[in-house]
Parts: sequence; C-alpha cells; structure tokens
Amino acid sequence: MLAASCVAQSADDPLSGLEVGQRPEPEVPDGWARVHVRAASLNHHDLWSLKGVGLAADRLPMVLGCDAAGVTDDGAEVVVHALVGDPERGGDETLDPGRSILSELHQGTLAEQVVVPRRNLVPKPADLSFEQAACLPTAWLTAYRMLFTQSGLRPGDRVLVQGAGGGVATAAITLARAAGMVVLATSRDADRRERALQIGAHEVYETGARLPARVDAVIETVGKATWSHSMRALRPGGTLVVSGATTGADPGADLNRLFFLQLRVVGSTMGTRAELEQLLSFCVATGVRPLIDDVLPLAEARRGFERLAAGDLFGKLVLTP
Ligand SMILES: NC(=O)c1ccc[n+]([C@@H]2O[C@H](COP(=O)([O-])OP(=O)(O)OC[C@H]3O[C@@H](n4cnc5c(N)ncnc54)[C@H](OP(=O)(O)O)[C@@H]3O)[C@@H](O)[C@H]2O)c1
Repeated sequence: MLAASCVAQSADDPLSGLEVGQRPEPEVPDGWARVHVRAASLNHHDLWSLKGVGLAADRLPMVLGCDAAGVTDDGAEVVVHALVGDPERGGDETLDPGRSILSELHQGTLAEQVVVPRRNLVPKPADLSFEQAACLPTAWLTAYRMLFTQSGLRPGDRVLVQGAGGGVATAAITLARAAGMVVLATSRDADRRERALQIGAHEVYETGARLPARVDAVIETVGKATWSHSMRALRPGGTLVVSGATTGADPGADLNRLFFLQLRVVGSTMGTRAELEQLLSFCVATGVRPLIDDVLPLAEARRGFERLAAGDLFGKLVLTP
C-alpha cells in the first residue's frame, strides 16, 4: 500500500527522513479493525516525529499521521480516535501514563490502510465529508478540550488565541466563536490576521502587541515566542491553557506574575474518545466545519510537509490516498 513514512530522523532537515512509497499492508490483531483511509490530515506532530521528538528511532520505519477518516472492512464510515491506551484502565484516557498517539508506537494514518483498536472507532456523521472528519481527531480535539474542559471559559468570556495560522489555533478560533466567546487572535502575518477575522476572531493583533483589555484565558501552542505575552494578557485569576511549544519549551516562568495575579497554567493533551464524539456533535449542531487549506493526493505528501514545515498553512492540510 502507499504510505508516507518516517525512515530517518533529523532535527535540521526533517524532510530528508520522509519516504512516500510502498509499505506492507498491516495485519489486524484481535480486537482491532482495519480502516480503509479516505482522508488523513497533517499535524505538527508529524514534523516532530521526523525531527526525532516523540518517536523512538528503534520504531522506524513508521507510517506517519495521527488523523484519519475512512471505511472499515464491514463498511462502517468512521473517524479514528488517535490515542491508544490500556483498555483495562478506564477513566480519562489522556491521563493514562502508557498512552501513545498513532505513529508513536503503532503505524499511523498517512496510508491507504490503518489498523486501530475497535474502541478507537467513532461513527462519522453523514453531514461531515471524509476530508472534514479527518481534520478533527488531533488539532480540533485538542482545541476542543483546551476550550471546553480545561480553560473554565464560559460564553461571553474573552479568550486570546496565539499563532492564528496554526491547526490548533484555527480550530480554537472557530470553536470559541461558535460557543459565544469574545475571540482575540495574534499572528505574525497580516494575511493570516485578516483570515482569522474571516473565521470568527473579533479582534486581531500582531504577535506580541499590547491588547486594549485583558482576557479571561489564553490558548497557547506557540511556546517560547509568545509565552510572556500570554502571561501579560491575562486578567488576575485568568487561565493559560498550553498544549504545544512550537518555538521552544523553555519560556521562563514569569513566576512573579503567576503568583501575584493568581494565574492558573493548565496543560492539555489531545482529548478523550467521549470528547471526540462531543466535538463531532458540536460540528453537526452548529454547522461549524474545519478549515481546510488544501487537499492533496497522498502521493504528493512531500509537498504538504514542505508547506507545514514552512509554516505557510492556514488551517489543515488533507491527504487523500
Ligand atoms: N498536546 C497535544 O495534544 C497537541 C495536539 C496538537 C498540537 N500540539 C502542538 O501544538 C503546536 C501547534 O500545532 P499545530 O498543528 O497547530 O501547528 P502549526 O499548524 O504548525 O501552527 C503553529 C503556529 O505557531 C505560530 N508560530 C510558529 N513560529 C512562530 C514564531 N517564531 N513566533 C510566533 N508564532 C509562531 C504560527 O502562527 P502565525 O504564523 O499565525 O503567527 C503557526 O501557524 C505544535 O507544537 C504541536 O506539536 C499538541
């Protein structure tokens, strides 16, 4: 089958380890299911894997990709929940210390077929296309949990989303607007600031710019480059929710501000299967759809990775086998 795989890792030249070519079809263990992938989407996670972060070298070659929607052997249309944990454990699977995301321990979704535990299959609503559904399990689910589980935000509250062009950020802007929040967003790029307005931001600012009024919570995935600004943007008692650190994970803690203003910093990772089901219902109920920058054939995955690495995407890049 055709697949986009990580065959080597390089922090400086991640795309040198990307191979788009034939891989053996996967075996299906007991309790798992084969999904014939109709659409998959790229995440920054795939770039981290090629850089050697989160994917151990002894697991190579590894088919990349966390997100997919497709059809099982018995004809069910499904969305794949990307988080694989201990089935016996119960509770919030994002807190399972042994959890992994597809393409870390188990082969990923950028392929014609992927096999996953049966419990990771979520029915795809008919209202969503395969391309739309394939955008939801990582970036959109992460944004959903940040906003609705971790932030404490309520409709009418003010939220700042850093790095408006990113996959998680565009999801957060769209979801927050649909949920009745006042949405501020930053981007380094004027075009992306304009596009953030089009997808629901009420106000946009250049990265690092002083805001006219403080916010109740910040959605942070950029890391070092925006951390201090995020801390300064919060009202006393406000909450910084962080799920990524694209520009570096050693931001300086701003400890004085943290304790003096009684801020809360909350980490967030992916989301549960139940939250993925809620996200799908939210999309159906509100008419919200993931923003897709482009759809490319899987055979042209390298072009998609080049755009992801260059940071010139606005929304999600979808690959179709
Ligand atoms: N914990 C989890 O479960 C989870 C899930 C999903 C993602 N993540 C992480 O979250 C991060 C974002 O993921 P993503 O898929 O949304 O990535 P992405 O699409 O590549 O977005 C990254 C965004 O960061 C901003 N940015 C990049 N370099 C910057 C710089 N030097 N200064 C200021 N802003 C900069 C850019 O926004 P502008 O160009 O608009 O300024 C860019 O669009 C990644 O690190 C990813 O690994 C974590």
